[in-house]
Amino acid sequence: MSLIGKSVLLLIGGGVAAYKSLELIRVIRKRGGSVRCILTKAGAEFVTPLSVSSLSGEKVFTDLFSLTDEAEMGHIELSRSADLVVVAPATADLLAKMAQGLANDLASTTLLATDKRVLVAPAMNVRMWQHAATQRNIETLKGDGVLFVGPDEGEMACGEFGPGRMAEPSVIADAIEAALSQRMSLLGSGSLIGRHVLVTSGPTHEAIDPVRYIANRSSGKQGHAIAAAAARAGARVTLVSGPVAIPDPQGVTTAHVETASEMLRAVEAALPADIAVFCAAVADWRVETQSGDKLKKTEGGPPALALTPNPDILATIAHRKGERPSLVVGFAAETSNVIDYARSKLDKKACDLIVANDVGGDSGVMGGDMNTVHIVSKDAVDSWPKLSKADVAERLVALFATKFAPKVRL
Ligand code: C5P
Repeated sequence: MSLIGKSVLLLIGGGVAAYKSLELIRVIRKRGGSVRCILTKAGAEFVTPLSVSSLSGEKVFTDLFSLTDEAEMGHIELSRSADLVVVAPATADLLAKMAQGLANDLASTTLLATDKRVLVAPAMNVRMWQHAATQRNIETLKGDGVLFVGPDEGEMACGEFGPGRMAEPSVIADAIEAALSQRMSLLGSGSLIGRHVLVTSGPTHEAIDPVRYIANRSSGKQGHAIAAAAARAGARVTLVSGPVAIPDPQGVTTAHVETASEMLRAVEAALPADIAVFCAAVADWRVETQSGDKLKKTEGGPPALALTPNPDILATIAHRKGERPSLVVGFAAETSNVIDYARSKLDKKACDLIVANDVGGDSGVMGGDMNTVHIVSKDAVDSWPKLSKADVAERLVALFATKFAPKVRL
């Protein structure tokens, strides 16, 4: 990947992390991109316009009311001249202004006037990051289709420890490439900007006693890949994940759960959503009465485990009267008669699409990186070739996007 031929408008806010933005300018240019910069008044307290212009090789814009600047390039034109707008560091104040739609300096006016995607790299004190107001603003911005990279967790300039450090320049550059990637623009008119996508992933663990549980071999790879692909397509994504050994995808809000009942509660809490994708391999049963103590081997032989059915999360959400997502997608892992079972599941579970796959024999789907799926809808079956789980995810997200008119132009 590279940034050849791409232009970035970089807004440098007022934070200690502004020094890293100088490195970011260098990385973008090294990867072939061009950068034009806006330095906020507070940003100029941390880095000088001269260092920014020296590194970017361009004039730096600093003052909303500079008549010369407006004559040379109006702020509206500036806001639209780039392929992507990047805010780094994005301070708590800048995020709040963006969420409110305030426009009282060049940076905030440009952000309000732009018709391009916006990627923000937050940087602030850990308490400021965790404050309910900041978190509310972040949710609002994600809902508006703003992309996030970071913040990282670690020791901060103020001496505290926690999330709030700006992502490293190379990571921000990767996020810029992802936001501008060919795949994103291929989604074009079907972009998911402004949509909320809910994904379940992984297995569930149903406790027998404090140390034993019922589980299955789901790795979460397919569900996590779908969540990541939806985020890349601009959606706000909530991932509800059972216990897995893979990391949370970037740019996605992940809720970690163990049991089917917890998964249902987390899914309901995440509604409303435009699209819900139920990829988790939910345990069909749980032990009726969990033992508070570890079950002992006894003379009387093994214990009889009475099982009781778990809630069917997919069917529960698809049958909802209020807040039913417009597109409800189920998965069907079968070992035989894959398409027939998928068709009957479509009906029984009231979902709009079933992604069916054969997990039998030596398919290697469970835990593996490849998948062969059939997309089953009411009146059609589309069988895809064997693909990586990442490619299945990209294609699925592109398919979902075709069912929605875009909310924001790319
Ligand atoms: O009935 P079966 O488990 O084969 O259905 C698979 C589909 O239903 C998957 O989309 C899975 O995530 C979902 N499911 C669920 N809750 C359950 C069982 C399955 O959401 N308790």
